[in-house]
Amino acid sequence: MTGDILKYLREKEYVSGEVLANKLSISRVAIWKQIQKLKDIGYKIISDQNLGYCLVSRPDLLLPQEIQRGLSTSYIGKEIYYFPELKSTNTIAKEKALHRAEGINEGTLIIAEWQSAGKGRLGREWFSPTGGIWFSIILYPQLSPSYISRITLMTAVAVVKAIRICTQIKSQIKWPNDILINKKKVCGILTEMSAELDIINWVVVGIGVNVNIKQREFPEDIRERTTSLKEVLGKKVLRVKLAQVFLQEFEKYYEILKRREFSFILKEWKLYSYTLGKKIRVDMGERIITGEAVDINEEGALILKKEDGELVEILSGTII
Ligand code: BTN
Repeated sequence: MTGDILKYLREKEYVSGEVLANKLSISRVAIWKQIQKLKDIGYKIISDQNLGYCLVSRPDLLLPQEIQRGLSTSYIGKEIYYFPELKSTNTIAKEKALHRAEGINEGTLIIAEWQSAGKGRLGREWFSPTGGIWFSIILYPQLSPSYISRITLMTAVAVVKAIRICTQIKSQIKWPNDILINKKKVCGILTEMSAELDIINWVVVGIGVNVNIKQREFPEDIRERTTSLKEVLGKKVLRVKLAQVFLQEFEKYYEILKRREFSFILKEWKLYSYTLGKKIRVDMGERIITGEAVDINEEGALILKKEDGELVEILSGTII
């Protein structure tokens, strides 16, 4: 209902309560109540006795109606669950993903303005104050579980593209899924899935972008190696626009992936890579390997050339 009212308020400078009531087939009192609701979430709406209501400004929030307005995707972000505060969007997305039969569709988005227990890779915490973009996308790909790393790499490419389109900033990808600007982390991706032997039940891709966060806001232990778009650009970034562009890029690359044309995405990933050509150490849990990152293969595995010349394929690990 509030979405419909906003639509009419955007079309004209002033819209009377009577016109709105007629258009939406509800009473003028009901319209007034909906207007109060919009004001409560931060829309600035003024009213004039003779002319009616006028929308003056929108809140700087990732509200579904703002993201969906002008979003040109077919299914990514068509359904959005929005929360001012949440423990973790990935946790809620995983719960929702189980309810496909009850209407949770591919591309459903869970968004939070801030997370009280944001999750990073390897059980780490993810600092998620207001001002960032914290969301998770639910997917039901008809692909083999081995595609999971390709989904993460593809998401990283979509993030780099969206940042470039919206801010001109050239970010880079540190394998497998850290997005860096000037060697500092600006975005992280956490992909989780449920799968059986050869089918995926669901995938949840969680994306966290440090957008309008001040350097001094970051906890001390990560401050040195973390950055935000606002910090690099020197001004605030429109989060709604960035989210929209990302969702559009994401759907575009996901479609390519589903057509099993990963090599196209891989080419772009390599263009944006921070890792390739560097001498690195990879923590693989049970052991640490040192060598030169020489390539990424068609499965999304990192190819490391050890000192003795041996090539090692690494599907998951952390660069240290
Ligand atoms: C990493 O460790 O680099 C991954 C960070 C992923 C953070 C995002 S924020 C939205 C989503 N919800 C979470 O709890 N985590 C992911």
